[in-house]
Amino acid sequence: MITIHDLNALRAQVESWRRGGNVAFVPTMGSLHAGHLSLVRAARLLADRVVVSIFVNPMQFGAGEDFASYPRTLERDAKMLEGEGTDLLFAPSVETMYPKPQDQQTRVEVPVLSDLLCGASRPGHFVGVATVVCKLFNMVQPDLALFGKKDFQQLMVIRRMADDLAMPVRVMGVDTMREPDGLAMSSRNAYLGEQERAIAPVLYRVLSGLAHKLREGSDDYAGLQAQAARELDENGLRTDYVAIRRAADLLEPDAGEAQLVVLAAAYLGKARLIDNIEVAR
Ligand code: PAF
Repeated sequence: MITIHDLNALRAQVESWRRGGNVAFVPTMGSLHAGHLSLVRAARLLADRVVVSIFVNPMQFGAGEDFASYPRTLERDAKMLEGEGTDLLFAPSVETMYPKPQDQQTRVEVPVLSDLLCGASRPGHFVGVATVVCKLFNMVQPDLALFGKKDFQQLMVIRRMADDLAMPVRVMGVDTMREPDGLAMSSRNAYLGEQERAIAPVLYRVLSGLAHKLREGSDDYAGLQAQAARELDENGLRTDYVAIRRAADLLEPDAGEAQLVVLAAAYLGKARLIDNIEVAR
C-alpha cells in the first residue's frame, strides 16, 4: 500500500491506474472499525484499485462538537487498510484540503435534504460533508465511491450532489455492520462508558420494533414515532429524533407508502448515536 499526503502525487498515481482499469474510493475520517473494512472489501470486489482517504474534516463539525477530540489513529488505520489489500491511502493535511481560510472556501450545498433530520440538529454539517466529498472526488477521480448506510442521510446527500452536478462517479451504499448485540459500528462508540455501552443497543432494538409494526401494515406514523422516542428516553437515551420517512427523498410519507426508512438519533453520554432501518412493504 502506498501512503500519499500530497495532491500531485495522488493525481499522478491514480491517473496511471485509471488507464488500465477502474478505481474505487472509500472516504473516511479514520479511527477505522470493521464497518469501514467492509467498505474496503466491497470496493476490492468491484474495482481493480482501491483508494481510501483519511481526513478529519473540520468543515463538517459544528462549534462545540468533537473535532478536536475525534480519535486520530493513522498508524493503526494504515495497518488495517494494508491488511485488506488497499492500494493507496490518501491522508492529506488540513492545509492541503483547505489552503484558504474556511470562510473563503467554495461550498457545495444540497438543499432540502441537508436541512432535515441530522441537518436540523447539526446546521452546516452536510454542507461540510458535501464540500469535502466533492473535493475528494475531484482529487481522486474515482469510477465508484462507497459509503456506509449507517449514515443514510449522508449517503443520500452525496448521491444527490453527484447526480445534480453530473459527477462521473457511481455512489454506492454498503449495509451497516453491527456488533453482536445489534449496535451499529461507529467510531463514536469509543465515547461510550461501560454502562452507556450496555444501554446503546436499545436504539437498534427500538427501531427494529418500529420497523416490524410498519411491515405489519401500520400507518400511524406519528404514533409510532412518539412511542419509539418514549422508549428510548425511558431506557436512558435522550432522543434527538425518531422519523419515518420515504426512502427515496427522506420526506414525510403518505399512508401506504411502500418504501420507507426509519431513522433515529439519540444522545448517550458524550456520544450522539444514529441508526436506521430500511422497510420495504
Ligand atoms: O462518514 C464519514 O466518515 C465522513 O462524513 C466522510 C464521508 C468521510 C466525509 O468527511
